[in-house]
Amino acid sequence: MVKKIEIYLREENIMKKIFALAVTIAALLTVTIAVSGIGEAAPAKTYHIGMSQCNLGEPWRVAMNDQIRTAAAQYPEFEVSFSDAAQDNSKQIADVENFITQQVDLLIISPNEATPLTDVVKRAYDAGIPVIVLDRRVDGDAYTSFIGGDNVLIGKKAGEYVAKNYPNGCNIVEIKGLEGATPQKERHDGFMAGVGSDPKYKFVYSQSCDWLRDKAITVMESALQANDKIDVVYGHNDPAAVGAYVAAENAGRQKEMIFIGIDGLPTPDGGIREVMAGRMAVTYVYPTGGAEAIDAAYRLLVKGEKLDREVVLDTIEITKDNAEEMLKKFGGA
Ligand code: FRU
Repeated sequence: MVKKIEIYLREENIMKKIFALAVTIAALLTVTIAVSGIGEAAPAKTYHIGMSQCNLGEPWRVAMNDQIRTAAAQYPEFEVSFSDAAQDNSKQIADVENFITQQVDLLIISPNEATPLTDVVKRAYDAGIPVIVLDRRVDGDAYTSFIGGDNVLIGKKAGEYVAKNYPNGCNIVEIKGLEGATPQKERHDGFMAGVGSDPKYKFVYSQSCDWLRDKAITVMESALQANDKIDVVYGHNDPAAVGAYVAAENAGRQKEMIFIGIDGLPTPDGGIREVMAGRMAVTYVYPTGGAEAIDAAYRLLVKGEKLDREVVLDTIEITKDNAEEMLKKFGGA
């Protein structure tokens, strides 16, 4: 009996020691966890996105950057750095090289011209940086995803508008975008398809204004001097059409012709208000794709999804019949 009690007491002693040891270990573990921060919510991984803009001197591009900034602000994981190449291919190449050196997690680029920018985009892509090409294309296929409007379709709709309103043919001045930027050729080709390449639709003057309003004024001044009869001005973007309108108005000839543009921004100086004011007959919404690019970046980087190679954005034809409604729809009222 005495022996049993002795054993029991000894065991109880051992149990007490084990218990004390366990308490000590637990306390030590708590201190370690607190010091190391294990167990707290891990900070989210952040991603650095480089956005290479070809020219911030145009309202449509300011809108694109604004949309990217607003969309990215929804994701605390994203930090976006913007560069502006001021319509200079060499500067844009250097901007992209800089993003490659910084090892950005993703590159968004709206290239000034296709061919000069193709190599540096490929270098970024080959370095393992996912590349989203926005609005204007590069040559080849060394990029992750292209997002943009259908410029051939938009040009075609503009051509069809002319064919419908001038069934007997007309004299057309075309004020083109920058040579070498893919939408320029696509908008021209689409328009030709829209008027059915019919010779009754005469291109009496065709010049590039590099997408710029001021240059469009000069181009239109020459077109007016060279032609007594102009029925239609097809501007490859709204600044081209509005610049042409200004030149025609200065010459007192704006009523003689209609002005067609592309972009359809809801901003105070944008195409929708130009249509409402009667300066342009029609414009076509050309979405910037800024929000879609950030959405794609999120799906790729954060969710690990695969992106579509090609994302085509819709357009809307805006005439005086729907301009007010569209202004409201796009938040410009
Ligand atoms: C701005 C812009 C837009 C046009 C687009 C085409 O640079 O000229 O007006 O729709 O680029 O890439």
